[in-house]
Amino acid sequence: MKNTIGFIGGGQMGEALIRGIIASGLYKNEDIFVAEPNDSQREHLEKVYSVQVFHNNLTIFEKCTVVILAVKPQTMKSLLEDCKNRVHSHHILVSIAAGLPISFYMDTLEKSEVKIIRVMPNTPALVLEGASALSRNENVGDEELSVAEEIFKAVGEVVVLDEVHLDAVTGLSGSGPAYVFSFIEALVDAGVKSGLTRAVSEKLALQTVSGSVKLLKESGEHPAALRGKVTSPGGTAITAIHVLEKVGFHGIIMDIVESAVNRSKELGKA
Ligand SMILES: NC(=O)c1ccc[n+]([C@@H]2O[C@H](COP(=O)([O-])OP(=O)(O)OC[C@H]3O[C@@H](n4cnc5c(N)ncnc54)[C@H](OP(=O)(O)O)[C@@H]3O)[C@@H](O)[C@H]2O)c1
Repeated sequence: MKNTIGFIGGGQMGEALIRGIIASGLYKNEDIFVAEPNDSQREHLEKVYSVQVFHNNLTIFEKCTVVILAVKPQTMKSLLEDCKNRVHSHHILVSIAAGLPISFYMDTLEKSEVKIIRVMPNTPALVLEGASALSRNENVGDEELSVAEEIFKAVGEVVVLDEVHLDAVTGLSGSGPAYVFSFIEALVDAGVKSGLTRAVSEKLALQTVSGSVKLLKESGEHPAALRGKVTSPGGTAITAIHVLEKVGFHGIIMDIVESAVNRSKELGKA
């Protein structure tokens, strides 16, 4: 069978995945099928990526085994109800909708044999630098799981976990970009407060963060070890770290992640 892939929903995330899998050579443009209700977005996807676009979701299930569900969580129930009769045991449904448990898909489709992979990606996937966690139900075999892993590797890093850990993933990497953006925003303001122009401050703050991440990755050293190397005795950095620790920086970060994890658990039950 031809190596095809279908998308239901070609919005921000759907488009990022399409871009990634084309760039990685995983699928040919003409083997990517996208159902998208928005006329201008359909035209855009067809023009930019030369993928096959459709208005009707049902066509995707006829043409593809792997189907990525990339619509908003609030749309998912009606989508599944509409497609119920077209979903069969050979399909692999890969959902990126935040918060919806695997049981939600099985219950709504009323099919115990359906293959579901639930994914928690994050927004840097839009620039092919995402962090995604994948969980599968018992109907998904190892080979089928690796198909999904390859898709998400095209837009960043991938981990495979039991579903029970997806709330923790949501709190860490799913919501994580929000914490990082807040940190960067504060760093920029701090530069401005100290007399730098906003443009200069932004340039320095962004490069400091991305450079530090690169150094961490490439050196393979523990963050504490690298921090030790930039804190000279009686110097500026250790003075600043003292202030950071007095306000309980570590504890605050652990608290914010924990609060997001708890919120994710609450939303999953709603
Ligand atoms: N964006 C992120 O960073 C991010 C991160 C993690 C997880 N996610 C998850 O990814 C999913 C997609 O998010 P997104 O940001 O890509 O949303 P989005 O940009 O709104 O894309 C969803 C697309 O699906 C279309 N759509 C709506 N109803 C549909 C239906 N019944 N059948 C087919 N297509 C339909 C929408 O069209 P209309 O605009 O015309 O409604 C829209 O183009 C969500 O479930 C979200 O939880 C997103």
